[in-house]
Amino acid sequence: MSFDYESKISKAVQQVPPSAIRKFFDLANEMQGHVISLSIGEPDFVTPWSIREAAINSIVDGYTHYSPNSGYIDSRVAISEYINRRYGVVYDPKSEILITVGGSEGLDLAARSLINPGDEVIVVEPCFVAYKATVEFAHGVPVIVETKPENNYKLMPEELESAITDKTKYVIVGYPNNPTGAVMTLDDWAKIRDVLMRHPDIIVLSDELYCELNYLDGKPASLTQFEELRERVIMVNGFSKSYAMTGFRIGYLAGPKELIAPMFKIHQYCIMCAPSTSQLAVVEAATNADDEVEKMRDEYNHRRRIIIQGLKDAGLDCFTPYGAFYAFPCIKSTGMSSEEFCEKLLVEKHVAIVPGNAFGKCGEGFVRISYAASLEDIMEAMKLVKEFVEEHKR
Ligand SMILES: Cc1ncc(COP(=O)(O)O)c(C=O)c1O
Repeated sequence: MSFDYESKISKAVQQVPPSAIRKFFDLANEMQGHVISLSIGEPDFVTPWSIREAAINSIVDGYTHYSPNSGYIDSRVAISEYINRRYGVVYDPKSEILITVGGSEGLDLAARSLINPGDEVIVVEPCFVAYKATVEFAHGVPVIVETKPENNYKLMPEELESAITDKTKYVIVGYPNNPTGAVMTLDDWAKIRDVLMRHPDIIVLSDELYCELNYLDGKPASLTQFEELRERVIMVNGFSKSYAMTGFRIGYLAGPKELIAPMFKIHQYCIMCAPSTSQLAVVEAATNADDEVEKMRDEYNHRRRIIIQGLKDAGLDCFTPYGAFYAFPCIKSTGMSSEEFCEKLLVEKHVAIVPGNAFGKCGEGFVRISYAASLEDIMEAMKLVKEFVEEHKR
């Protein structure tokens, strides 16, 4: 007798396909021999020592229990001061900041606390794979706005405007962008602000995970900086990317207390609190690690230039990324689909990258290459990509 598992699993869960990033990551792991992986969004740097030391000391000092549900007050104060220093915006650490398990939990909490079945959520693609999935898990309806290389992958105000309906609950924006590396300046955001001012009921979820990795001027630019939107912008942020702290699993939500409170309710029941040790490490990161972040940003910026040149030499068109640690070249000239390109490159040259359509349909014809890898690996991979494109010239 076989148990009918399928009928037991929620339809919402069944309908969401597995992440295509994972598929390529697993394929690369199964390959025999050395594979150069430029496939994952994970800094290759070791977490700066002073941050690791703070984590060690937290254990020595006995911080091995639950913390308050929203996080230790010292950690929330440190995060609030960090946001003020970098963004010039003040959030009350007691009521407007919630420490989460990575930015990932923040995305999920927003979806679960805001969406009623059938509500529409505008998702700007190509984007991080969790945006659409979290909306679908919460029985919302993602409405896709596609960004384009000819607009430098920026969100265009008229395209946002035309996606808004009376069912729109919120819009998710993620800049600096994964996977394109696009950034929005404050002037770009001002145009989006103007659209939102015409629609006073719409909430904004602004994913700022890569806020420190902005190579235009190193400063975050964000909708949170417009006072007139303050009552309805929620910032999702965290330490994974900019501080090379993916394994610490610390993120945070910052926003008006009326929107943080319902997210806190879910977090309190379902998660209890973010890891205590990691929260203590974050006090150090948010307070004393600006120099370390700058060093990593400079190194990424150097690699970014090398990768852009490498792609050019390989004959692939690539929009110039100014943020995060990804390049998103167009591979249409090879005649291959994104999946085909990535599969063949992996099998023939042992280089792992991710098909662009993993980040939305409009990513078809593109691939995501991460430069969160050593310069040596990046240079070797670019040589192999060049050979590969030449061997497959039509
Ligand atoms: C744009 C973006 N947001 C959020 C996350 C989640 O990060 P974490 O949960 O590690 O903080 C990622 C991870 O890849 C990301 O790329």
